[in-house]
Amino acid sequence: KIVPVIMAGGKGTRLWPLSRATAAKQFIRFIGDKTLFQGTLDRVSDPELYEPPLVVTNEEFRFLVAEQAREEGIKLSGIVLEPEARNTAAAVAVAALIAADLYGKDAVVQILPSDHDIIADDTYRNCVATAAAAARTGKIVTFGITPNEPATGYGYIELGDALPGGAHAVKRFVEKPKLEDAEKMLASGNFFWNSGMFVFSAEHMLAELRTLAPEVVAASEKSVEKSTKDLDFIRLDAAAFAENPNISIDYAVMEKTPNAAVVPSPITWSDLGSWDAVWKIGEADADGNVVSGNATLVNTRNSLVMSRDNHLAVQGMEGVAVIASEDAVYVGRLDDSQQVGNLVKLLAADR
Ligand code: GDD
Ligand code: MG
Repeated sequence: KIVPVIMAGGKGTRLWPLSRATAAKQFIRFIGDKTLFQGTLDRVSDPELYEPPLVVTNEEFRFLVAEQAREEGIKLSGIVLEPEARNTAAAVAVAALIAADLYGKDAVVQILPSDHDIIADDTYRNCVATAAAAARTGKIVTFGITPNEPATGYGYIELGDALPGGAHAVKRFVEKPKLEDAEKMLASGNFFWNSGMFVFSAEHMLAELRTLAPEVVAASEKSVEKSTKDLDFIRLDAAAFAENPNISIDYAVMEKTPNAAVVPSPITWSDLGSWDAVWKIGEADADGNVVSGNATLVNTRNSLVMSRDNHLAVQGMEGVAVIASEDAVYVGRLDDSQQVGNLVKLLAADR
């Protein structure tokens, strides 16, 4: 069986003001009746395929995680609490150490971001099975999504030779390229987007990290050794964990490892990272508007308008996002969506 590890420690600042420091995007219901975190839990709830999930999150989100898992009726292997955010390399290292501890060092781990919208159909399940088989041969396996625009917020994977079992070698992994490089890779037709999920055996990931990012393993090992447990919570030692460099697994391992593999994955996938992504997956009306909550639109096209109780009235706009939370409103062009994170830095005091 696969050990699912859900990464739920990101702050999701580009979805301000619905995603807040106190309740990041993975924990809010912004489309449908489940949160993205709950959707992720559901994808790994088949007891034939998966062990109970392990969640790695920030200390601040511990009650949200516990409460939302309880609502879904899902029992967890544990909730690992990071005293401060150190990005995903540390989260993956800690998860691999704890998974090895609980399920043995050859445990096959699937890392799942908690900010994605994915349809878990048979195609998806087949891709996961292919990835797990490649992971058992020592590969660090990614899922390749066919790109349709030169997005700069993703990792790009160059397809290499076929491996036995359906996965392919990775020629090159480029995390968050510059626009001109993204355009070239898109045009070449030989690149996938990295989905953000990874499958590997605990011991192989730890071996990669020991070679490529030894500081991460050292700090993570110490923080796990000195961790304390209460109920489902595994509290990492703060001083040891703070020694982790702030680096993502994509830069720390995926760009460097010779052991990466990719499963071409024709799955329905969206990273709900920014307002333009929410607009793209939303159900648009005849004018191309995606509207939720209490809103009236006049002479407005191709826009995203979201509110809860406040009544929003929008007139004469094109290609904008108008997002109202209880206490804040964001208005901006949809094609500027990647910049919201920078705007939020200016508001940091008000988060
Ligand atoms: N526990 C923990 N701790 N989780 C974290 C932390 C952290 O410090 N930082 C981020 N996460 C979680 C986020 O909540 C999210 O679920 C996941 O890790 C990925 O982080 P993002 O910050 O959303 O990464 P990204 O979207 O910029 O890039 C990654 O995903 C892309 C696809 O969505 C990369 O893997 C890219 O290569 C990939 O294309
Ligand atoms: Mg993301």
